[in-house]
Parts: sequence; structure tokens; C-alpha cells
Amino acid sequence: MTDTADQPTGEPLAHSRQQRLGLSPMPSLPPDLEQELDRLDQEFWLPTSKLEQIVHRFRSELNQGLAAHAQNIAMHQTWVHSLPSGNERGTYLTLDLGGTNLRVSHVTLHGDNKPRQSRTELKQTQYRIPSTLKTGTAPQLWDFIATKLAAFIRETGLGNYFSPARPIPLGFTFSYPCTQARLDHAELQTWTKGFDIAGVEGTDVAASLRAAISTRRLPVDLVCVVNDTVGALVASAYSDPETVVGAVFGTGCNAAYMAGLDRIGKMSRGEREAARKRGPKMAVNCEYGAFDNAHAVLPRTALDREIDARSPRPGEQAFEKMAAGLYLGELFRLVLLDLARRGRVFSRGSAGAESLDLDATKLTTPYALDTALLSALETDTRSDLAASTALLHSTLALPSPPTHAEAALARAIAVLISVRGARLCACGVAAICQNEGIERGHVAADGSVANKQPGFRGRWGAAMGEILGWEEEASPIRLVAAEDGSGVGCAIVAAMEVERRAREGAE
Ligand code: BGC
Repeated sequence: MTDTADQPTGEPLAHSRQQRLGLSPMPSLPPDLEQELDRLDQEFWLPTSKLEQIVHRFRSELNQGLAAHAQNIAMHQTWVHSLPSGNERGTYLTLDLGGTNLRVSHVTLHGDNKPRQSRTELKQTQYRIPSTLKTGTAPQLWDFIATKLAAFIRETGLGNYFSPARPIPLGFTFSYPCTQARLDHAELQTWTKGFDIAGVEGTDVAASLRAAISTRRLPVDLVCVVNDTVGALVASAYSDPETVVGAVFGTGCNAAYMAGLDRIGKMSRGEREAARKRGPKMAVNCEYGAFDNAHAVLPRTALDREIDARSPRPGEQAFEKMAAGLYLGELFRLVLLDLARRGRVFSRGSAGAESLDLDATKLTTPYALDTALLSALETDTRSDLAASTALLHSTLALPSPPTHAEAALARAIAVLISVRGARLCACGVAAICQNEGIERGHVAADGSVANKQPGFRGRWGAAMGEILGWEEEASPIRLVAAEDGSGVGCAIVAAMEVERRAREGAE
């Protein structure tokens, strides 16, 4: 059962499913599996009427976040006052604390005397984040980051050109919900995406990073803290003037756009006056992963509720937990586990469910399945499903290969989950576009789901069309692959800030 009862489809499910989901022709399943698929389809399918209902509430939560502080969707002010001119130049360092890696980049911006494709240069090293760090302590986090930054500076020889007295500007991409009183300040509100490091929430991550840098006397000057969505917006606008929204559909999900200052009602008079001197707009980091934390419209299934209850922050990031990459593989695991427990799949012989030792498989290991598995199943369009069969056998550590019908069912479930995710992702961007009167332009999207999930773009575009009332082929708002926001985008924000300081210092 879902949280909300609205599940109309009218047509016989099996007939409409193939077309609705763009499923490649499927063998008919044994009646018990067909019945399970019908049930899951009813739970996961979001008809246009549901999308409209979600967007309606989304619009009002976005507006509330602009009007007042401490709302469910935070709509954080970022102090990024304009999109780049495309002529920003110089050399910068950036740090990006992602879900899996810490990326350190040395970015050179050439400005518009170079063709679009060669305006930026990037040298980057990725350092794997030990999983213990994600649930460790604040000193361990800052020590890890500063040590890797020091290693990068040593290995690239940058220490020969810069010193603590003549530092290289540093930008920090920190993609968690933060309030920002200035561009170089960011107070973490709550960890998301499975991070749970003690002692960081409620503190200024810029100050902590600065302290770690100063202890090691590193030749860098932290000038900005940037969300990955703001990075995507800025990096893409550097070479594509049609960019209207920066979005991330990856481990987490979120978007940023340039809002008119008059739309940000919650700004104090002082803030507004200061901002107005620097431009008529400001980038807003929506933090819409928190949409509908009150659970008023999102049709959560029992398994969505289970994911939430077992997460480090139950009750938070309700939207993200249904739409983002971190959770899609987990949802798939829980659906299969439920089917296996009830003896519907993977059990052989007369003993039924008891013949399968679930604990010997990966089905009982939380977060054992990556969203990449769903993508790989979707890409297997051969009728024998040989690739899916082998993949399920090995990834789930099953004692024997799944039957053809089980593989077909698993593949259909992967599609159901991915389609629901993509349609939800469209709701957030559609709500922004409707609220801000954005009628055309490019949504610069980054993240593993946007980049690697087959069909995401088409499903997202179709849902946008249903909500906004246009034919998909004619779509005036298009999803495009974002430029590197966390590296290049962050460096461009640093460049704009360095230019601004020089300009305002000289005034
Ligand atoms: C974070 C956002 C981020 C998004 C995508 C969410 O969990 O709260 O700040 O933009 O993930 O990475």
C-alpha cells in the first residue's frame, strides 16, 4: 500500500505497461509473477494527475522557502550574484567532497579568447574516502581533507609557485544543505546521502577547513564554498548562455537557479542592499531533496518507508529517498528480498522459500546493490536475457542462476523504479520553471543517474511535457549534460569572487 491512495490507470495493466514504461517485448510471466508485477506497477507508476499534484505542492514549498527562513525546502542564498561572462581567467584549486571520493582539481580558466570546448583545463586526483570516515568525527574529516590537499600540492609542484603569503585561491564544493551568510561561509544544517560525521552539523565548514589549512601552512586561500548544483549551473553557463537551471540527479538530488532578488522575500534589508550592488539576482540552492518531508503527497510504498526508517536521518530528505541514486538500488534490493522471502523468486524445489538461504545471498545486505545494476539490467534488450541472468546470479550471489521469468521480472522492476525516479525528478524542475516563469532553456544536469541511466533523459522529458503541456519533441526546456560543476564550476565562482574583491578593493 502506498501513503496516498491515488493510483488510477484504468487500462488493464499488462497491456498498457509495455508502452507506458517503454519496456522491450517481454515474455508472459507465470501467473503468480504477473500478479506481483501488476501490484508493483500499481505502486510505482505515477500517472500525470499525480505528477500535477506533486508539482502543485512543490511550487508552494519552493515559494515558502524563498519567503521565510527555516522552511522545509530551504532555498539557500548562495551569494553567487551572477552567471559568468565566459571571460573569467586564472588558475585555481578546488576540493569536492563527494559520496565516494575526495576530488582535488587544479583548474585553469582561459576565458573567451579560446573556443568553447577548450576554455578550461583541469588536472585532478581522486582520493577514495574510507567508509569509516563517513560515520567518523569532525577532526578526522578535516585532517583527511587537509592531508590530501597537501599531497596534491606536493605532487603537482604547486608549492613552488605559491606560498601562505601568496596563496592560490581555493574553492570548496560541499554538497550538503548549508546556510551561507557569505560566499566563504557555510554552516551545515544536516548531513544527507548517508554521511553522519559527528560534530560538523551546526558548524561553519569553511572555518574548519581554513583552520586545517592554516595548521599545515598550506599555500591556499579559501574563497568560496559552493553546492554542486550551483557549480553545474555556473560551469555550464560559462560556455552555454541558454543554461537556466543546474541540477544534480546522482547519489542525491537537488537544483539551483538564478532568482530575482525581489523573489527572495526572506532577505534582510541589509542583505538585499548589499546584494543589489552586485546584481539583480542571486543563485539559490533549493535543497529540494527535502520536499514533502511531511509526507503529504509523495506516494511512498512500504519499502520507501523502510528505507527512511533505517537511514541515519529518518524523516529527512523524503523526496531524495525516492528519486536519487543512493536509494534506487536499495529499493530494488528490498523489492527482490520481499519476493524471495515470500517464496516467489529464487527458491527451487519442493521446499519453497526455505530452500534458499537468504543470508548467503546479497539480498539481506543493506545498500549492497548499486544503481548501476538497474542500468545494466535495463540495457539488456536481448530476448534471452543472458546478460541479466548472469549479472543477477553474480551480483546477488544466488546459489543458482535465476530463471528466465525471474530475470524478466527483475528487469521490469528495475525499469519501474527508474521510471518513477525520473518522473519525480521532472517534478522539481517543472515546479521551479513554473514558479519563475522559465519557458525555455537548458537544464544542466550532472550526477550518475542523469549521466548513466539509460532512458533517464527521455523519461524526464516526457514527464516534463505531461506537466507543462507540451509535446516531447518540441520541448523548449531541455536536459543537457552539465559541464564539470564541482571542479570547473567551483573554480569559476572562485574567479568571479577574486575579480570582485579586486574591483571593490580598488573602488
Ligand atoms: C544535498 C545537496 C546536493 C545533492 C546532490 C543532496 O543530498 O543535500 O546539497 O546538491 O544531494 O549532490
